[in-house]
Amino acid sequence: MMSAPSSTVRREPAARILGTGSYLPDLVRTNAELEKLVDTSDAWIIERTGIRERRIAPPGMVTSDMATEAAKRALEQAELQPTDIDMIVVGTITPDVPMPATAAYVQQKLGAKLCPAFDLSAACAGFVYGLAIADNFIRCGAAKRVLVIGVEMLSRVVNWSDRTTCVIFGDGAGAVVLGAADGAEARGRKRGVLSTKLYTDGGSTGSLVIPGGGTAEPLTPEGLTQARGKIHMKGQDVFKVAVKNLHSSSQAALDDLGMTGADLDWICPHQANLRIVDLAVAKLGLTKDKVLVNIDRVGNTSSASIPILLDEGVRSNRLKPGDNILLCALGAGISWGSAVLTL
Ligand code: COA
Repeated sequence: MMSAPSSTVRREPAARILGTGSYLPDLVRTNAELEKLVDTSDAWIIERTGIRERRIAPPGMVTSDMATEAAKRALEQAELQPTDIDMIVVGTITPDVPMPATAAYVQQKLGAKLCPAFDLSAACAGFVYGLAIADNFIRCGAAKRVLVIGVEMLSRVVNWSDRTTCVIFGDGAGAVVLGAADGAEARGRKRGVLSTKLYTDGGSTGSLVIPGGGTAEPLTPEGLTQARGKIHMKGQDVFKVAVKNLHSSSQAALDDLGMTGADLDWICPHQANLRIVDLAVAKLGLTKDKVLVNIDRVGNTSSASIPILLDEGVRSNRLKPGDNILLCALGAGISWGSAVLTL
């Protein structure tokens, strides 16, 4: 059964992005290197996914290290201190440990003050979910400045002998500081989050799953040898539902605002597969020149992909204050969502 969207129509922004940051590990793993691990080819991976290389976290690095680095950069850009933050939301399916939350480690490593800090599990949709939560906390006055982080160390949960998944995923972190919109304007537009739409269809949990390691299937030595603690994906199923749902949630987010694709300056979509992005964008009647893409360089970084794209866009001056931007993402759950904001 499909859940109802959890968001409401909103035209007056309550919260806006004050700063962006991202972190990618230095180590690059090219398609040519994967050719040595599994039966694949550089040509197949580029043609079917758009990916040329991805980043891999080195041994000893943990998820919260990457998240903290991205958060520091976002705070620096926002000209804020860690102690200015009063909530930390981390979207991740690759936490440091099952318990406690990665957000608690980030709080500690940043030197942030006592504040709510929690993880949310919405897989690739994690950042859009986090943004919606933070926006609503700020809207209702329960928080003033929120760090929203998307971070994944997927190299640790990928089966490196499964060619259908290991070529896709990469490691990385992205963060934004969300703060009160305070009526800020750029180019005559009010800056801030305008609309968010979140959905989950729990009827498709088996399409993308790490089957072992939880209460359903505690890991055994046998399960470990069968890679039950690694990502299992029905790629074709996810592909089809991704194109359809990214289009419908994005259309719904625009409809809320009485906007059309023509009102957008940029689309910043989750980087799952370049073909998914192209098809979803075409369904919205939009052209490729408005789409930010980095999947060729970083692969699919799940919840981190949108905040990394945003940060790269801001730092390269492609994204400018006042730009109308559509975010959209879909992942395991199946969970998905879209947001429209004015930077
Ligand atoms: N290299 C070479 N061949 C590969 C391969 C690889 N890395 N991965 C799969 N193949 C093979 C398959 O085994 C299959 O072979 P067969 O016809 O002999 O059985 C063939 O290529 C076609 O497989 P298919 O699954 O139809 O390919 P695809 O075009 O759908 O691409 C994905 C596979 C995984 C790239 C694609 O389905 C996808 O991106 N899915 C969605 C991913 C996603 O969005 N994930 C969730 C969000 S994070």
